Amino acid sequence: MFLAANCSVRRAERHPFAADSAHKGRKDAPWVARRSAALLSSWMPSVYDQFVSAERTVFSPGTTNMAEHTSIHIPVLVSEVLDALHLQPGGVVVDGTLGGGGHARRLAEQVGRSGRVVAVDRDPQVIARAERELAGLPIQVAQSDFCELPEVLDAAGVELADGILLDLGLSSDQLADDDRGFSFESEGVLDLRFDPERGEPAWRLLARLRAETLAQILYNYGEERFSRRVAAAIVERRRYDPIRTARQLAQLVRSCVPVAKHHRIDPATRTFQALRIAVNQELASLEHALRRLPERLAVGGRLAIISFHSLEDRRVKLAFRDDPRLRVLTRKPVRPAEAEVARNPRASSARLRVAERVQGD
Ligand SMILES: C[S@@+](CC[C@H](N)C(=O)[O-])C[C@H]1O[C@@H](n2cnc3c(N)ncnc32)[C@H](O)[C@@H]1O
Repeated sequence: MFLAANCSVRRAERHPFAADSAHKGRKDAPWVARRSAALLSSWMPSVYDQFVSAERTVFSPGTTNMAEHTSIHIPVLVSEVLDALHLQPGGVVVDGTLGGGGHARRLAEQVGRSGRVVAVDRDPQVIARAERELAGLPIQVAQSDFCELPEVLDAAGVELADGILLDLGLSSDQLADDDRGFSFESEGVLDLRFDPERGEPAWRLLARLRAETLAQILYNYGEERFSRRVAAAIVERRRYDPIRTARQLAQLVRSCVPVAKHHRIDPATRTFQALRIAVNQELASLEHALRRLPERLAVGGRLAIISFHSLEDRRVKLAFRDDPRLRVLTRKPVRPAEAEVARNPRASSARLRVAERVQGD
């Protein structure tokens, strides 16, 4: 059975960055808990309709809809994830970050026809593509944030899962989509939202926030040492020519951040990471999921999380360690073998941590 679903409920509440000072000391995203349950039988409205927004028309004339293309994303740490989740035929498994569907397909093979895979993603284009590419497989998909998985599982009639996988961050498909601004060389609008219906696009934050707040975002979410310098340059530039595209931002950052001697990474990397995290409230969502997901694991069920940077990995490590419902199975994070990194350089920063549900409260 293949069901497409739309768990999106418009967020009427104020965006966390609506007031400049609201960002300070923020620990959670209250909107997350207030969203209503998934509607697992309703079909997505046309994805294209959702995308034709005013700023897209003004700033990005060409449209390359990711949903129309076959996924180019190569899933990371696949055999390690399958070993870790230790699924049996007939099992129930949840993929909280469907992306190109690479992991979900392998999970479906593991649980077989008598099992179930419930998969969600925040990105409506991912869901639209899944409708086409995963049709015929026993995978139920829903558009949802993974921190709302308990509501999705309720709607799907699943009480407890035998395994849950989160593969954090963004996919190669999103990176390659010129209309979304994830790639530094993109001429499309600097949007950076996984779900274009939620939150504020990055270009608007750059046009609106005070230098202090921008610097705080760059420092807290990108660990950018030159955060004040970059923020000041953004504010100076917007007085005569506000930043609209990813390429404009990358060029500006490169002009004011020195290239680190021993690192080959682009100086714009930290700024883009920070803005993406801010726009999507990624850390709040992860923290919320870490509190909520263990409750939906059967005793003996496993939670596997792949992170790509230290801000995520630290949160996963501490949450696993401090949760009485969980037993940590990975003292150190599992890293990809050299052969995998050679095949897929994107895997190089991947870190897998796994915990098992024990009785606990
Ligand atoms: C690294 S990709 C996953 C790739 C996938 N495992 C595969 O095999 O193709 C991460 C995906 O997670 C989605 N995502 C990021 N944060 C999310 C969240 N809080 N809730 C649901 N999906 C999220 C992104 O839209 C993206 O499609």
